[in-house]
Amino acid sequence: MPSTLPPGDPVPADGALPADALASLGPGGFGVYVHIPFCASRCGYCDFNTYTAAELGGGGAQREYAGTVLAEVDLAARVLDGAAPSVRTVFFGGGTPTLLGPAELGRVLDGVDKAFGLAPDAEITTEANPESVTPASLRALRRAGFNRLSLGMQSVAPHVLATLDRVHSPGRAPAAAREALAAGFEHVNIDLIYGTPGESDDDLLRSVDAAIEGGVDHISAYALTIEEGTAMGRRVRRGEMSPTDDDVLARRYELADERIRAAGFDWYEVSNWSRPGGECMHNMGYWDGGEWWGAGPGAHGYVGSTRWWNIKHPNAYAQALADGRLPVADFEQLDARAMHTEDVMLRLRLRHGLPLAALSDGERARAEAVIDEGLVALDADRLVLTDRGRLLADAVVRTLLD
Ligand SMILES: C[S@@+](CC[C@H](N)C(=O)[O-])C[C@H]1O[C@@H](n2cnc3c(N)ncnc32)[C@H](O)[C@@H]1O
Ligand code: SF4
Repeated sequence: MPSTLPPGDPVPADGALPADALASLGPGGFGVYVHIPFCASRCGYCDFNTYTAAELGGGGAQREYAGTVLAEVDLAARVLDGAAPSVRTVFFGGGTPTLLGPAELGRVLDGVDKAFGLAPDAEITTEANPESVTPASLRALRRAGFNRLSLGMQSVAPHVLATLDRVHSPGRAPAAAREALAAGFEHVNIDLIYGTPGESDDDLLRSVDAAIEGGVDHISAYALTIEEGTAMGRRVRRGEMSPTDDDVLARRYELADERIRAAGFDWYEVSNWSRPGGECMHNMGYWDGGEWWGAGPGAHGYVGSTRWWNIKHPNAYAQALADGRLPVADFEQLDARAMHTEDVMLRLRLRHGLPLAALSDGERARAEAVIDEGLVALDADRLVLTDRGRLLADAVVRTLLD
């Protein structure tokens, strides 16, 4: 049963959330994220919580994973105690969810439906590596209830794919996008990475063109982040590879933006473009006041003002569930100031913008200065980043905040 938790308490054995968190659940939409922490091989730039079978001492964790994560979903339904509205969005992310295969992914989705109830028009996404799907597996995913696919393509330039340790051929991602559309997926996304060492402007533009030719209605483009603790991070530290210069990254963003918009897409978040109606509603939930349960190792959840995160390692995560415990590692209750900071950071990155009314008097005064600098503009009563402001979104947020 829900009970009140003072801030900073250790996670209660039954995973109960504060009663006021449950009371306020739902108006911004409720989603479920399912993390699938497995990859066939690891890309040198990636620091997501994912493991190869060898790193987990064999494929057992992966074979049993649907049952493991469903145990968490059942406990989650008990913790939320009927307070959650029907689920508007489900997102299977990774790792490589499609390594589990359509039958197992469908089994987990059915479990989410039984535990919480899916809204009739729910958006159901899975991420997929291009080489891990076939026309037949895509049709099976579609039959299992998935209606949105997100493919990691990153680039079409063979030397860029090699630097990123990608194992698919340059043309595989657009081909998989076309196969997904033929299988009846309503929405398909392609992820691109720009700014990989050795990439040229032309490499990026050819990648954007290939994504568009795949017929997708959504493109995400991320600047390569060189993460500490990854194989790429070590290469940079040893001086074997140099990160791409910030001015070059800014130019690549502008080139990609121009090309994507010329094809009939528009930006709706700094790193995300869609055709009309193609926005990812699950991610919009993260950015615009939604709440969600995050299931799986290392997954984060957010309900009311409470945020929690799960045990990171898949084996320890599975052990907690085998012991009948929610696998929560820790939680925090955000105070009004922390919630405001997040609100400004996330909503200012949206095309929809940030209502002026959300800002304090001091922040509104500083907003005038960033308007004068041409980094944001007023759209009715909302602050919206200009094209130049999108290149400096983090700096704008830092300037605005008290
Ligand atoms: C969690 S990954 C899962 C996608 C899928 N496993 C794949 O690689 O095809 C989601 C996306 O995050 C992006 N990503 C991962 N690491 C990144 C990094 N270090 N810098 C920029 N983007 C990154 C990639 O575009 C990737 O497609
Ligand atoms: S980028 Fe995707 S395939 Fe590569 S290691 Fe990360 S999650 Fe796995």
